[in-house]
Amino acid sequence: MHPTHLSFAPKLIEWQRQHGRHHLPWQVADPYRVWLSEIMLQQTQVATVLDYYPRFIAAFPTVADLAAAGEDAVLGLWQGLGYYSRARNLHKAARQVMTEFGGRFPQTRTELERLCGVGRSTAAAIAAFAFQQRESILDGNVKRVLCRVWAQEGDPQSAAFTEQLWTLAESLLPENSADMPAYTQGLMDLGATVCKRSKPACGCCPLAADCRALAEDRVAELPRPKAPPKVTVLPLFWLCLSRTDGALWLEKRPAKGIWGGLWCVPCFESLHEMQQLAAACGVDERDLQEAETIRHRLTHRQLEITPFAARTDTTPERPGVWVLPQDLADYGLPKPLARYVSARVRAA
Ligand code: ADE
Repeated sequence: MHPTHLSFAPKLIEWQRQHGRHHLPWQVADPYRVWLSEIMLQQTQVATVLDYYPRFIAAFPTVADLAAAGEDAVLGLWQGLGYYSRARNLHKAARQVMTEFGGRFPQTRTELERLCGVGRSTAAAIAAFAFQQRESILDGNVKRVLCRVWAQEGDPQSAAFTEQLWTLAESLLPENSADMPAYTQGLMDLGATVCKRSKPACGCCPLAADCRALAEDRVAELPRPKAPPKVTVLPLFWLCLSRTDGALWLEKRPAKGIWGGLWCVPCFESLHEMQQLAAACGVDERDLQEAETIRHRLTHRQLEITPFAARTDTTPERPGVWVLPQDLADYGLPKPLARYVSARVRAA
């Protein structure tokens, strides 16, 4: 085997022990805590997760507690983290652990992959951290490290090239399974703090002597950049109905699509439909107070939301609830709505 292969894991483990991240609250042997942190960290930075994770653990100390909770309680604690399908899958997976695995967390990568929201890399991370199994992760950061060290020009988005990277990643695992947590954390830490996409700190890299991209002065061009997502503009109109006692009318969003499962004010793609509901609640068009348009970027959509506020004591004839301002914290709201509502409360 090429010397770079043989020395990869030992160098990374040594570096992780000296320079990597330790004492993160989820660096424990409890698979529930590891799983929860990995789901949160999928699309969210460590600093943000450090804020949400302890509250989540306090509310649901065990997988049984999470499984027994209602979906709204879970979504409420997730509010602001985004990518809410993660929270819905988390709740479903907790129920799977109780029903399909008899309440005991699965311990192998393939069993872990059966849990909702757990893909191959997340399953491998849980297996490595919680059970010291010789399974490799492969997320965007790890792909970048491998593409650079081996000067690979493939498109990291392509399935065929990803398959090659999995094979490479699996050939690099440390011999000793007791090293798996440090090795796995080392891969993550190196990608996040040294082998960064822009301005990588090659001077501090434990793999610098082996890195083909560095030797060939191609670090900046590897891995090949991904095509930017196609973003479409979506105009939305919110009808913010409030009652004389200050309660706000909220409706639960359908499970699929934007803000799935969250609570929102009536939301329309056409101004006309919004006005129709207002009229049905006895609100005259002239009494609709238009607020400034809110721009909110999702992965593939640029939302342009125009809120319209109105007073009414008529309950709309559609599923929903009146929620008093002090009770809003119990409902998972889309981030831009939470911001808009708190700005209005402050202004009132
Ligand atoms: N990103 C994904 N998993 C992580 C972990 N366990 N620690 C730090 N960053 C991560």
